[in-house]
Amino acid sequence: MPKLKLPAPPLPSKLTPAPKRPGQGNGKVGAADVAKEAGTTVVDWVDERTSLSGGVRWMLFRKVPKGTNWFYTLGSATLFAFLNQAVTGVFLAMYYDPSATRAYESTRFITNEAFLGEFVRGMHKWGSSVMVVLVFLHMARTFFFGAYKYPRELNWVIGVVLLILTMTMSFTGYLLPFDQRSYWATIVGVNINGTGPLVGPYLNDFLRGGPDFGATTLSRFYAIHMLLVPGAIAAMIGAHLYLVAKLGTTAPPWQKVETDPTVAEERA
Ligand code: HEM
Repeated sequence: MPKLKLPAPPLPSKLTPAPKRPGQGNGKVGAADVAKEAGTTVVDWVDERTSLSGGVRWMLFRKVPKGTNWFYTLGSATLFAFLNQAVTGVFLAMYYDPSATRAYESTRFITNEAFLGEFVRGMHKWGSSVMVVLVFLHMARTFFFGAYKYPRELNWVIGVVLLILTMTMSFTGYLLPFDQRSYWATIVGVNINGTGPLVGPYLNDFLRGGPDFGATTLSRFYAIHMLLVPGAIAAMIGAHLYLVAKLGTTAPPWQKVETDPTVAEERA
């Protein structure tokens, strides 16, 4: 069957070339004509040098299957929760001190004294729970809609990595206030990791940053929490969204396949 080619989606009005001015277009193209055709907006200027608009059109103008509903917004909601964590995390890092003697005090300072500190810390703390809930709901949506099947298996696998990374963020972030609850809860968590087969004891040593739980553990958790894992999550989200744009989303399972009557006749 010949492959159907979709018509190119319309260009945003900002990117369409300006209409010719009177007296223009006498057949000869001089430097002045080129200058008149040149982009007049910042978007034009950047696009002339990068041709990025092609990529943006490829990403944004997509065919969406019939039956697409609110459940399809859960992935974007998770993405938004991640961005909220990234932005509020940057402001928290301006005041937080990952040293065993000053971590608790710096957290207290953020909550009680820094301008809007309690609000930003609250957004980050509640946002972490929101992100975990959303990522599970999004996973449930893709599972129950059968979106993990061919050709989207790789996107499911990337999703599993994203799930593990999200849980790692929660686990490493919990220690940072360095109060009694976070300290003892993290010891329990690290010990649970240690019971894993084969890799358990090594993972235990790696997380503690040595044989004992101490100051090195805190700086290690902080580095993992604010550099390593967010970087990995951002890269994985990039790959995840590339595949979503390339493969499109799956129609809901109850959506009937619309058969082209001519094709159905040919097959019969
Ligand atoms: C940080 C975490 C994640 C983010 C930001 C994210 C984001 C997204 C977005 C925006 C979409 C397209 C819209 C939608 O279907 O909701 C999507 C689709 C998809 N996601 Fe995720 N996702 C994440 C985690 C996961 C997890 C944990 C899984 C499964 C283990 C997963 C599996 C999929 C699959 C299979 C699709 C394709 C859906 C379809 O074809 O209908 N994602 N994701």
